[in-house]
Amino acid sequence: MATLGIESSAHTFGVGIVERGKVLANAKSMYPITDKGMIPAKVAEHHMSTFAETIERALSDSGLAISEIDAVGYTRGPGLGPCLRVGQLAARAISVKHGMPIFPVNHACAHIEITRHMARLKNPITLYVSGGNSQIVLPEANGYHVLGETLDIGVGNMLDNFARSAGMVPAWGSSVAKAALSGKYLQMPYTVKGMDFAFTGLLTSATKMLGPSKIGDVSHSLQETAFAMLCEAMERALLLSKRRELAVCGGVAQSKRLREMLSIMSRSHSVKFGFAEDQYNSDNGAMIAYVAELLHSAGAEFGLEECTIDQKYRIDEVDARWR
Ligand code: FE2
Repeated sequence: MATLGIESSAHTFGVGIVERGKVLANAKSMYPITDKGMIPAKVAEHHMSTFAETIERALSDSGLAISEIDAVGYTRGPGLGPCLRVGQLAARAISVKHGMPIFPVNHACAHIEITRHMARLKNPITLYVSGGNSQIVLPEANGYHVLGETLDIGVGNMLDNFARSAGMVPAWGSSVAKAALSGKYLQMPYTVKGMDFAFTGLLTSATKMLGPSKIGDVSHSLQETAFAMLCEAMERALLLSKRRELAVCGGVAQSKRLREMLSIMSRSHSVKFGFAEDQYNSDNGAMIAYVAELLHSAGAEFGLEECTIDQKYRIDEVDARWR
């Protein structure tokens, strides 16, 4: 029983193939990010021009023919509407043409579940950090509870935005991380409210400091402050939830420094800490296929009319009936 999953919520068009939890393929085609950031219509155009080739590549990597695929999943949301639409249409076309069941998947849920699976964790409290999202998620029976989240922008968008203002190439958080290696700490605004946090004040201050201060110092201070805020909120949530496992997932989970800080915090409470390989933290189709397979195994069924997109699909609305 093999399942094909399509991810298209942002800059990546990803197609993964999973069979009983084993990833057979994880093909991707990524829209090149420029200093202008992401224009949804342009990214959707990229996805339209690449979807057939990416599906073919995933099938070829898996060694399976489309006739050997039993089910298809796609990202229902959250994400950019025009981009989500391309993945939804591709999945619906496959489902109708090949007469296979179709499963709409929540993007955040897919990041969390593939991380739990790959890091061999049972039920970790999870920090989900990406461009558009930053949330502390507590997985529970049949669903997820959001304990804390950003009050304005995602930490990934904040880092990307700063990288663009600083003229870094590529304009991503990884460039900020590189610049941060040589810096010393400067005082920055720090906003944690209970288990929630906010990043725009920090971004504005860091951007203003770019002129008078060294770029390495500002990058270092921005990154340390943002990650310390996430760690503080996460530590509070960990103690409240009494979970014995902690995970981090999403695009920003590729940051070695964030993982190091979370690992130190987890160790201080004798809590097991885990994360997935980078190919599952950046957007990918395998995680969508994985959750579609979980839904299929749990006996879920969706009519085509239920296979919509939802740009603001929250993880606390997910019916996780396999849990
Ligand atoms: Fe993502």
